[in-house]
Amino acid sequence: MSQATQRRRYALVGTGNRGTTMWGRELLNGWSEYVELVGICDVNLMRAERARTMIGSDAPLYANFDRMMAELRPDLVIVCTPDDTHDDIIVRALEGGADVISEKPLTTTREKIARIRDAEARTGRRVDVSFNYRFSPTASRIKELIEEGAIGDITSVDFHWYLDNQHGADYFRRWHAFTARSGSLFVHKATHHFDLLNWYLDSDPVEVKSFAQLLHYGRNGPFRGPRCKLCPHKIECPYYLDLAADPFLDALYEDPSTVDGYVRDACVFREEIDIPDTMTATIRYRNNVQVSYSLNTYMPIEGHHIAFNGHKGRIELRQFEKQPWTEPPADKILLVKSFGGGVERIWIPHEPGGHYGGDNRMRDMIFKPGSNDRLRQRAGSRAGAMSVLCGIAALESAREGGTVEIDPLAVW
Ligand SMILES: NC(=O)c1ccc[n+]([C@@H]2O[C@H](COP(=O)([O-])OP(=O)(O)OC[C@H]3O[C@@H](n4cnc5c(N)ncnc54)[C@H](O)[C@@H]3O)[C@@H](O)[C@H]2O)c1
Repeated sequence: MSQATQRRRYALVGTGNRGTTMWGRELLNGWSEYVELVGICDVNLMRAERARTMIGSDAPLYANFDRMMAELRPDLVIVCTPDDTHDDIIVRALEGGADVISEKPLTTTREKIARIRDAEARTGRRVDVSFNYRFSPTASRIKELIEEGAIGDITSVDFHWYLDNQHGADYFRRWHAFTARSGSLFVHKATHHFDLLNWYLDSDPVEVKSFAQLLHYGRNGPFRGPRCKLCPHKIECPYYLDLAADPFLDALYEDPSTVDGYVRDACVFREEIDIPDTMTATIRYRNNVQVSYSLNTYMPIEGHHIAFNGHKGRIELRQFEKQPWTEPPADKILLVKSFGGGVERIWIPHEPGGHYGGDNRMRDMIFKPGSNDRLRQRAGSRAGAMSVLCGIAALESAREGGTVEIDPLAVW
């Protein structure tokens, strides 16, 4: 068999930023030995056309997913559309005989999870979920330490994630700002964090108690406009986004917005925004670990803090991503042993690429034959589902009060 016929023939669905970069241009630049892009689908053909040029491909464009599946019969479909559309596309891809890589979150509701899990079982195809944070060098090292028993059995985790007022605000400019589209950031964003916890702890969450409020964006703003480009408050608004200053985003979103009205710079202070921006949750795991979690979306810093507390010690990481001071080009994990065992400072150099190098490592794991998954980093639909179930339960707890149980059997 020639090398060209061994490559996986993949179709890309959704040509926004993520599809165009991670699963388009970058994938073809680094992994073309293993994959061949055979088709590109987006309901907005102007965006798809521009994305195809940016990717550097001559694959045919489709607005109709089913037609693409019927004509091209791809081996693999990579789903990069808004979260609430993932389930339909995943199910139709599986039924069309393809494996799937779904961007996170797998989906947004319990019913949609059940549909995807059912289709996967019925068709015998595989769904991967792109949990790139599992592959970051710091996460990999922490997982090794936990598995080596460096701090004994873990009893609790402190986990706090900070989005800065650029990255955090971005979720309030677009479809993510509506629970019906993203499941809220407890699903859309925290799916990464809940998945990290599930994977680190090798257990399932069983109950969640949370609080979540909209305290900064949306109706809290002092003024608002339709979108930054047309806003009378450009001068005084700290969230003013000049899309034209970013040629990549401008080309991908501005002219194509004339096709579907999807603007990239909608006002972060729109009255109708209905997701929380400030969230905390307490989670109990099946193995009795207790987790204290928070997510904030308007900080002057970006990064996270995680600490694992065990019978024999503590593992701690403060991961710096952006802050108004300089940090060394490496991350420091502190391994502190109880009873006078002292401290070990484990330095992990930064790796190039998105998500601390996790994006590249994940693509290697998925596409390079014979990759050794000794830390069980490659995530499937069960992992995708469990982290979303935790987010759904957290949102329910915040909105309705009380503790919400997560019953995986309800969707299995
Ligand atoms: N793993 C990560 O760290 C990471 C990072 C960024 C984004 N993401 C995920 O990637 C996905 C895409 O994010 P984005 O920022 O590129 O979104 P986006 O809104 O910029 O792009 C989505 C694209 O999908 C198209 N689309 C919408 N409905 C469609 C349908 N039914 N069929 C075909 N195309 C359709 C839109 O026209 C748009 O071009 C989301 O699920 C997001 O959560 C993951």
